[in-house]
Amino acid sequence: MEFTSNCTTDAISKAAIALKDGHLVAFPTETVYGLGADATNQNAVSQIYAAKGRPTDHPLIVHISSIDKMSDWAIDIPNYAITLARKFWPGPMTLILKRSGIAKDFITGGQANVGLRIPGHSLALALLTQFESIGGQGVAAPSANRFGAVSPTTALAVDEEIGKNLKKDDLILDGGGCIIGIESTIIDCTGKSPSILRPGAITFEMVEKSVGGKINANSSTKSIRASGLLVNHYAPKAKVRLNKLAKPGEGFIAMANIRTPNGAHRLACPEDIEEFARILYEALRNGDRLNLNEIKVMLPEGDGLALAIADRLIKSALGTDLNENLGN
Ligand code: TXA
Ligand code: MG
Repeated sequence: MEFTSNCTTDAISKAAIALKDGHLVAFPTETVYGLGADATNQNAVSQIYAAKGRPTDHPLIVHISSIDKMSDWAIDIPNYAITLARKFWPGPMTLILKRSGIAKDFITGGQANVGLRIPGHSLALALLTQFESIGGQGVAAPSANRFGAVSPTTALAVDEEIGKNLKKDDLILDGGGCIIGIESTIIDCTGKSPSILRPGAITFEMVEKSVGGKINANSSTKSIRASGLLVNHYAPKAKVRLNKLAKPGEGFIAMANIRTPNGAHRLACPEDIEEFARILYEALRNGDRLNLNEIKVMLPEGDGLALAIADRLIKSALGTDLNENLGN
């Protein structure tokens, strides 16, 4: 595996060719780093599952460079999905749509739907555009972490997570830290109205305003499998417990206005909710780098991005101890 920190045009061309040749390329997006493979190449896609240790029935998001490519991968696209795509792409939003013939079972986990996203990150877009210019149709990319672990928001974190599982011709592109820091909002667009499956930086309110009507917060389509919907996800090695003050020697993450308990390791001190999302995963990871046993996190309050942060933290804490975290 090669680490490419100088993302010049040459490096991007080389990465696009590596993808076309069936190798894996980890790349930055505005949300988290993805582990990419040619979404039409079954063997390449199987290497993503192997590197992540992810069950093969979990579907992957296909990343494309422009709205024109939506109809390559999806059919019967509802008007509201086009409205959302025009409004929020490129950006931190994934749309679940009825799949076309090129979205095979090895991408969709055997489901009749496919997840599509145009990332809002110049390096990711350059890579996708270059890949398409040499005949590629889309890049399958889950977050570049081991299954169940915290998503990486730096190239170093990608290396720590899966570096040892990558092969000689695989690449990690280094585009610095991710600006948003938590995964995209996933919106199920297979029903009459949109339904949010995973909250993110494109908030419930933003979606509702843009489609001009009520939307569902949970999937009406129970058969849709989204692994981020499982508990015991987004989990560092340390135990995560919510809304309790840290004891000496424990990690502590809270908004800047909450003071650090005596003897605790302050892992993050965000001034606002955007900063909270941006530094959260690296803060959890730093807890692991310090070998802490436990990290206490004070959940941010409010709607929008705060809800998305709480969603991830509740899932990382559920892996620790359901009852204790819910205060039972
Ligand atoms: O921000 C993101 O979405 C990042 C960057 C790299 O784009 N990707 C990401 O991928 O978070 P992943 O695989 O870690 O999480 C995507 C979630 C998974 O829970 C997966 O099950 C769900 O999206 N998903 C993908 N395709 C789907 C489909 N066809 N139907 C239902 N859920 C789907
Ligand atoms: Mg993931």
